[in-house]
Amino acid sequence: MKVFITKELPGNPEKMLRKNGFKVTIHKGNRPVSRRELIKESADADALICLLTDKIDREIIAGLKKCRVIANVAVGFNNIDIGAATEKNIIVTNTPDILTDATADLTMALLLAAARRIPEGERMMRANAFKGWKPDLLLGVELKNKILGIAGAGRIGSAVAQRAKAFGMKIIYTDHKQNPVIDIEEGAEMVPLNTLLKKSDIISFHLPLNQTTRHILNCANIKHLKRNAIIINTSRGEIIEEECLIKALKEKKILAAGLDVYENEPEINKEFLKLENVVLLPHIGSATRETRANMASLAAVNVLNILKGKEAQTPVNRINN
Ligand code: DGY
Repeated sequence: MKVFITKELPGNPEKMLRKNGFKVTIHKGNRPVSRRELIKESADADALICLLTDKIDREIIAGLKKCRVIANVAVGFNNIDIGAATEKNIIVTNTPDILTDATADLTMALLLAAARRIPEGERMMRANAFKGWKPDLLLGVELKNKILGIAGAGRIGSAVAQRAKAFGMKIIYTDHKQNPVIDIEEGAEMVPLNTLLKKSDIISFHLPLNQTTRHILNCANIKHLKRNAIIINTSRGEIIEEECLIKALKEKKILAAGLDVYENEPEINKEFLKLENVVLLPHIGSATRETRANMASLAAVNVLNILKGKEAQTPVNRINN
């Protein structure tokens, strides 16, 4: 049986697959797999291991002749047409839990960087522009007693709440259902989205991307934010209508933003580059050696399980057997 992997992955998960007798083909090199290569290589594959940057749409899925499992090396799976996969009885899996801490850590790093203007200070040092201590040099804002609004209190949102509590922040959140764990452990309160936008000093997005969450922060509701609000996004770029965020940052309608994800990755809206009050990272939320190796292993285990007739560890759809 053949497994096609769209990129060389940390931890060499192919070893485990080869040891179990599978033929593994890997798209190698720096360049992402092209659509043509993806169609050609996956056509006769029994399993596909892919990345969040690979668009596995209905047309690609229609071309899969034998595939039984698509293992996405990411917790988000908005790059895959789940409906089309389910119709073809293909199990789709993702990599939840193992990247929660890494992503929550990076969220806190962005939050601190934006609140304390760390990249501005770093740029100043590299430009040799530090001329001595000054009482008003790069004044930021404190986290203690500030309200952190978490949009999406799932695994990552909850881990961020836990960290933020240690900084003395007060937590409110919005979600489709109550999260009793952060209610009790972090003293958090669930509120409607508009209340969260109005009350929060810092808002951090941890939502999956779908039709309801796309542009959940938009030109209409960004007006509700506090003048000193900070926006953090480590989920998916399309959650925020970028044009409106840029306008709000430019016009100083809000204080700052810290972004790890963008609407048109890897393209970046050039307007962001002109702004001092935004911290920009290249989608590295889960990028620790440990986490990325674990993500790749989990994808391989999911493939192994399905091809051996067992249950996937982390399926995102159900099929009729
Ligand atoms: C995910 O897993 O969805 C993350 O965006 C990867 O860093």
